[in-house]
Amino acid sequence: MTNPVHHLLHPDAFDAAGLAVTNPADGSIVATVRRYDVAALTAIVESADAARHAWAARTAKERSDVLRAWFNAMVENAEALALLMTLESGKPLEESRGEVRYGAGYIEWFSEEARRAYGEVIPSFAPGKRVLTLRQPVGTCAAITPWNFPLAMITRKVAPALAAGCSIVVKPAEATPLSALALEALAHRAGVPRDLFRVAPAVRSSEAGDLFCSHPLVRKISFTGSTEVGKVIMAKAAAQVKRLSLELGGNAPFVVFDDADIARAVDGAMASRFRNAGQTCVCANRFLVQDGVHDAFVAALTARVDALRVADGQAVPGAMGSLIDGKAVTRVAGLVEAAVGEGAREVSHGHDGPARGAFHRPVVLAGVTPAMAIAHEEIFGPVAPVIRFTDEADALRIANDTPFGLAAYVYTADVARQWRMMEGLEYGMVGVNDGLISSEVAPFGGVKESGFGREGSSHGLADYMSIKYCLVGGL
Ligand code: SIN
Repeated sequence: MTNPVHHLLHPDAFDAAGLAVTNPADGSIVATVRRYDVAALTAIVESADAARHAWAARTAKERSDVLRAWFNAMVENAEALALLMTLESGKPLEESRGEVRYGAGYIEWFSEEARRAYGEVIPSFAPGKRVLTLRQPVGTCAAITPWNFPLAMITRKVAPALAAGCSIVVKPAEATPLSALALEALAHRAGVPRDLFRVAPAVRSSEAGDLFCSHPLVRKISFTGSTEVGKVIMAKAAAQVKRLSLELGGNAPFVVFDDADIARAVDGAMASRFRNAGQTCVCANRFLVQDGVHDAFVAALTARVDALRVADGQAVPGAMGSLIDGKAVTRVAGLVEAAVGEGAREVSHGHDGPARGAFHRPVVLAGVTPAMAIAHEEIFGPVAPVIRFTDEADALRIANDTPFGLAAYVYTADVARQWRMMEGLEYGMVGVNDGLISSEVAPFGGVKESGFGREGSSHGLADYMSIKYCLVGGL
């Protein structure tokens, strides 16, 4: 295949003196891209605001058609997009292909939802008056997106924004701007007006965040990232009462009851914990396993982990890839060491990856207790801590004992218990007998310190629209 970088990006995205993007699997430089300072970012925001009125004035069908053309362009370039993602993020090629499909799914979905932004006529409270609502675009939006899903975390913000009639400026993660820039180029080629949607790698991330929080033309900010940074954005955006969607950290429990199908639970555990080398906000972060199946579950999970290959995701199909950088490896290694220091046991013998890249072996830790630090940290790496529990009340108490509330998973054959757990878990998303829950058709988002707002589904469009109540009198 031709080099996906030059095949996909606008020629003006490059700058030899700009931001160097590194392949974490081997440390090589993939490309060097242009960065924008505050003055340039301000101009981009202002142009986006100027572009939105003509876009909002188009019919919903016209906006839908442009989004559909963008979706088609992604499908046509799927293999090049996947390779680009693997090069900049270390994600195995098979997972990158999956993310391209997943990310494109949001564009397809919102091209359809664009035509269903219905208002309402509400039965009136008085004769001679009619009560109705219009749904209107929020205005110019800004998005700050993470490196763990370099493409899908952008499409699930940009597609609903454009479907609603908004404009949007994206500051992509420093580690993975190439997928974002490729998406932007494909969108423009498909007919999205240039100023309406821009991707702008920043000279300094914090400056871009400050600009988005303080520029009066930015009416909404959507952020996916850490709870720590989310709180800063929330505080700064409060000065102008901006609309926010915050998809923040998680500490997902994965609860396995005695009556669970253990083979299915282990499949779910592998998919949920080791997807993207454990670097997703919805990865199972703590395995709570009931006494009766604890040892069998640990043995089966350990066997799978020991068999996992760890390698450059481009070179070895089916292998677990690298982490995003060396700092992430050090952090994960520190968490494992601290847990072992507190009494946990590393029962797996996972393979180390190639020494040259940012690899960490997959780990199963047994003997973890809810009091240990690792039970309260978002690990963001390939480590599965297992905590033993006795009964349902115990499981629910441990599962909910966290300020986070993004995703939770439960494995049980008992239908009544499935309902009790779905209702009792204080999380925005619950997977029952399944470890992979993300889809463009479903509302993704958290509660508590995992944030608010929903991405995907019809709720994802509502997040980019305001409801205007109109009363018509004198009838
Ligand atoms: C995330 O890690 O933030 C998103 C994960 C997903 O969409 O499944």
